[in-house]
Amino acid sequence: MDLGNTTDNHTSLYPWSWLEVNSYDPPLTRDANKTEKVLWGSKIQQAPPTVAYEEVMAGDAGLYKWLSNIDRSGFSFVSGVPPTPEATEELSERIGFIRETQYGRFWSFTSDLAKGDMAYTTIALGAHTDNTYFTDPCGLQLFHLLEHTGGTGGATLLVDGFYAASILRELNPEAYRLLSEVPIPAHAAGEPTSFYRPTPASGYPVFGHDKLTRDLTQVRWNNDNRSVMSHLEAGSVEKWYEAIRLWNKCLTSSDSEYWVQLQPGTVVVVDNHRVLHGRSAFDGKRRMCGAYIGVDEYRSKFAVLSEQFAPDPVLKAIPDAVVNGRNIWNAAL
Ligand SMILES: [Fe+2]
Repeated sequence: MDLGNTTDNHTSLYPWSWLEVNSYDPPLTRDANKTEKVLWGSKIQQAPPTVAYEEVMAGDAGLYKWLSNIDRSGFSFVSGVPPTPEATEELSERIGFIRETQYGRFWSFTSDLAKGDMAYTTIALGAHTDNTYFTDPCGLQLFHLLEHTGGTGGATLLVDGFYAASILRELNPEAYRLLSEVPIPAHAAGEPTSFYRPTPASGYPVFGHDKLTRDLTQVRWNNDNRSVMSHLEAGSVEKWYEAIRLWNKCLTSSDSEYWVQLQPGTVVVVDNHRVLHGRSAFDGKRRMCGAYIGVDEYRSKFAVLSEQFAPDPVLKAIPDAVVNGRNIWNAAL
């Protein structure tokens, strides 16, 4: 390669794999770091992704298995967890530091309305993602049912938002387009000392996409935190409400809904940018604990472990390319 007037005889060598990933004319590979996603419906109940607590706590191979499950399916159970807040907190911290919010850091609650939020009641909650009122909704949410005595109900609902979105897109592309474009303002205002809204205040659409690949990357949906839709153009009001009606139909179809009765000892962690959660109404004393982890902390940990447990075989063959434990030809650099 001739770099013009230089007396430096330096020669740079670029692996073919790197050039291929970074080619822009023509673009050959859009996203080398893209991992496989498995979309699922109610049949996931036959074999839900699960790892053992002991495996996750024993070493990074178990942690990688856990995070791979979440990356692929948008959620994973962890079985055999001691039913205590302490063990659950320690498990959460295997992924990254816990994200503190207005609900606290590591939370543990009963249905006592201690916070002005519907999660702290006994009523049924439809499938939703958390923090639609944040600019940056949390990436992961962990739940652990510590006890449920003197009553029934309280089944957990999980819905793969990417799967439901793919159905909507197939059946009604116009509704999908509207929900990909119209921003939804939202709020959390149940506490006198806090009043959360996203920035910009007009909010974000239900479906967020990668601007380059156009892949669906985020689902944001909580009809109970939605604010007034006064910014809709008069001509699109009915179309928009029809679109959310169709979306709601996809979310609540028996083909999409995965219901599971959690037991003390089983933690569930969901990718809050993809999988929606909810629960049926209940009575009796139900004690839950859990935590939020930021999306960047989760992706960072998964990237580091992927370098170790699923390295690109082409990059592995290049000698002298590792600096501080990181291959300098990693396609994400
Ligand atoms: Fe929630």
